[in-house]
Amino acid sequence: MRQSRLFTKTLKEAPSDEQAKNAQLLIRAGYIHKEMAGVYQLLPLGLKVVEKIKQIVREEMNNVSGQEMLATTLQRKDLWERTSRWSDEVVDVWFKSELKAGGEVGFGWSHEEPLANMMINHISSYKDLPTMIYQFQNKLRNELRAKSGIMRGREFLMKDMYSFAETEEQHEEMYEASKVAYTNVFNRLGIGGDTFVTFAAGGAFTEFSHEFQTVCEAGEDITYINREKGIAINEEVLAKTDLSELGVTQEELVETKTAEVGNIFNFGRQKGEEVGLFFKNDAGEKVPVWMGSYGIGITRVMGVVVEKFADDKGIVWPESIAPFKVHLVALNTDDDEIRDWSDGVYTALQKLGVEVLYDDREARPGEKFADSDLIGIPYRVVVSKKSKEAGTFEVVTRANGEVRNLTEEELYEDFVE
Ligand SMILES: Nc1ncnc2c1ncn2[C@@H]1O[C@H](COP(=O)(O)OP(=O)(O)O)[C@@H](O)[C@H]1O
Ligand SMILES: [Mg+2]
Repeated sequence: MRQSRLFTKTLKEAPSDEQAKNAQLLIRAGYIHKEMAGVYQLLPLGLKVVEKIKQIVREEMNNVSGQEMLATTLQRKDLWERTSRWSDEVVDVWFKSELKAGGEVGFGWSHEEPLANMMINHISSYKDLPTMIYQFQNKLRNELRAKSGIMRGREFLMKDMYSFAETEEQHEEMYEASKVAYTNVFNRLGIGGDTFVTFAAGGAFTEFSHEFQTVCEAGEDITYINREKGIAINEEVLAKTDLSELGVTQEELVETKTAEVGNIFNFGRQKGEEVGLFFKNDAGEKVPVWMGSYGIGITRVMGVVVEKFADDKGIVWPESIAPFKVHLVALNTDDDEIRDWSDGVYTALQKLGVEVLYDDREARPGEKFADSDLIGIPYRVVVSKKSKEAGTFEVVTRANGEVRNLTEEELYEDFVE
């Protein structure tokens, strides 16, 4: 991608009404556009990052036999009435609207009810089980507060998965497998070491749900963590938790600010029963399906990564989700010889399959470097008159500032996977 063609421009200042660091940096660097509080458009750079996160999540969900689909945003009132969750007192984030033809619809804040109902058409016998479905979908939630940038949106991208099982044992197996899949996801996103499986409220069948909480100053949650033992407990359930059962004392737990990046729920057979999702077991009896649901906040996780790794110069992406691997920055572009040479390096890197953002703009070096730091691509390669004379390129690692001088040949070798 040639930066001269990128329609987004970097900004010196974030909009004055934006308080969250993640959104400030993402707006300034041209990843997102703030439409209104809690609502952000994804620009080309932002979409690239989101697609990379999605692909990692997709691979891990496919690994546990998840099947991808896409549900609708508009939802039926009667389905949510079956489980008493249409009420605004029970679910306080509903967006609802009225049909001109009469009747009400809801905008999907989650999809347990519609997808459980849909599965009535596909699950009739124990032979149809187990099965898992998932999707990436924009959820709409009428959040009272939206001050955390893309970490809390009124419209945001979630991966939600639903498991359907025949027996408790099969159900538990899927629940545990998804926990492992989630751990893999967060490791690959570069936040594994700071993300904890956390006992949390919201269990239907079980006492707890499990949240994935990432240590983050900008997070809205408080989690009590013991790193050595790998135990984490959400503040909401701390008082009602028997710590001795977990093998930890209150003194061993450190109060920590965290962001909830994922949440998994065990519904037991309750949801199937309420929605009317039954199957015939091998004894020929009609019994409710065991259900679980598994969410990851895709855009929230993007915000968390920005918050955690950014420095005073800008964003620092882990390689796994960076929009490009290399930021090729050409200086002295008014010199035809240099321009031809840097164009050639760009073409060669592309041919090798390296993802490159090529700063081919006519701008001062200081401006180019500042933009490059702000955008946060893992490796910056500088092409200039100086490098042409020396026969080497300066390669700077964004995360630690390490500088290497590589010949053209070494450069290509270095970036080929
Ligand atoms: N308003 C929001 N903006 C961005 N991400 C969200 C938002 N609400 C929830 N998420 C993400 O979606 C995941 C699943 O949501 P869920 O647990 O149903 O929501 P909540 O914890 O708000 O009740 C959460 O773990 C979080 O990562
Ligand atoms: Mg949650």
